[in-house]
Amino acid sequence: MRVLITGGAGYIGTHTMLEVLGAGHEVCVIDNFCNSVPEALERVKALSNRSFAFHKADMRDREALTHHLQDFKPDAVIHFAGLKAVGESVEMPLEYYENNVQGTINLLQAMKAADCTSIVFSSSATVYGNPDFLPITEDHPLRSTNPYGRSKLHIEEMLRDLATANPDFTAAILRYFNPVGAHESGRTGEDPNGIPNNLMPMIAQVAVGRREQVRVFGNDYDTPDGTGVRDYIHVVDLAKAHVAALDWTQSHQGARAFNLGVGQGVSVMEMIDAFAKASGRDIPFRNDPRREGDIAQCYADPSRAEAELGWKAAIDLTGMCETCWRWQSENPLGYNAKP
Ligand code: UD1
Repeated sequence: MRVLITGGAGYIGTHTMLEVLGAGHEVCVIDNFCNSVPEALERVKALSNRSFAFHKADMRDREALTHHLQDFKPDAVIHFAGLKAVGESVEMPLEYYENNVQGTINLLQAMKAADCTSIVFSSSATVYGNPDFLPITEDHPLRSTNPYGRSKLHIEEMLRDLATANPDFTAAILRYFNPVGAHESGRTGEDPNGIPNNLMPMIAQVAVGRREQVRVFGNDYDTPDGTGVRDYIHVVDLAKAHVAALDWTQSHQGARAFNLGVGQGVSVMEMIDAFAKASGRDIPFRNDPRREGDIAQCYADPSRAEAELGWKAAIDLTGMCETCWRWQSENPLGYNAKP
């Protein structure tokens, strides 16, 4: 299959490229490196031993997208490109709507011009807001509490509208829970700009000595140990789900959402303990007040993905911590470290 991947140089993008290339598909990547670096793609090339087309382009540039899609003629698109920091989205909502929502409109128009009717979209469990029930199924009511989440929700709704309007259109909407971990080679992983927002990269940077301590945001939640509970999923498992979703788009019509999670809740303290064990390092932490906008618990019912995509997460918490630690300890400054 010919697969066009937007945002392929990012954290989930690089790991998905490895799986898509490994499955034998032809790949063309579009990225503007706004939150990633060319070195990430170099490593994908070396690890996969495959070549792929690449264009530096911005999702806001419809003309460029149209040109690249008409040229490559993809059978399907995997769409990762977008901004993803919740706090930043509150401060600069227009940038979020322009990059994420307008960017996706541009992509969908370009797909139309190139006669491509299949898309795999990178959504998020954030579309469920503070959950009414656990584990969360795909039928849980949708809501969001910040511009980032609303941009994901608007895009999901556009995809559902398009599927209603065009019976040939297919969208696999993948709702990620909390992606963590790295490729087992230790060559690709998460490389956040500045101070990490997310728990796992923060723990990893503390373990490697780049930061002093982990701030535990809230230990008075209604959870077994009082700290926040999430459904962490290994990024390589997540990447494999994209290959399954690509196959699904080739034999289905309509827009369908799938939860991608393990189906198990892990607390902040459990994660710190597991990481300390996997890395053999001390992880100093201190208890801080709750982070605004955080919820107590969030974990998936991933059974639809297993039943309909034939996909199930396989890597456990130890594997998540070990691979993250390999990546972090071998690349303490991320991709920019000199070899
Ligand atoms: C966050 C985003 C979510 C986004 C997801 C992408 C917020 C409020 N939510 O989810 O919209 O889709 O990332 O990966 O930003 N924690 C600490 N100390 C830290 C960092 C986190 O204690 O330094 C805790 C949090 O309170 C939470 C858990 O760790 O209980 C996980 O946090 P995080 O990794 O940021 O993910 P989410 O908040 O679930």
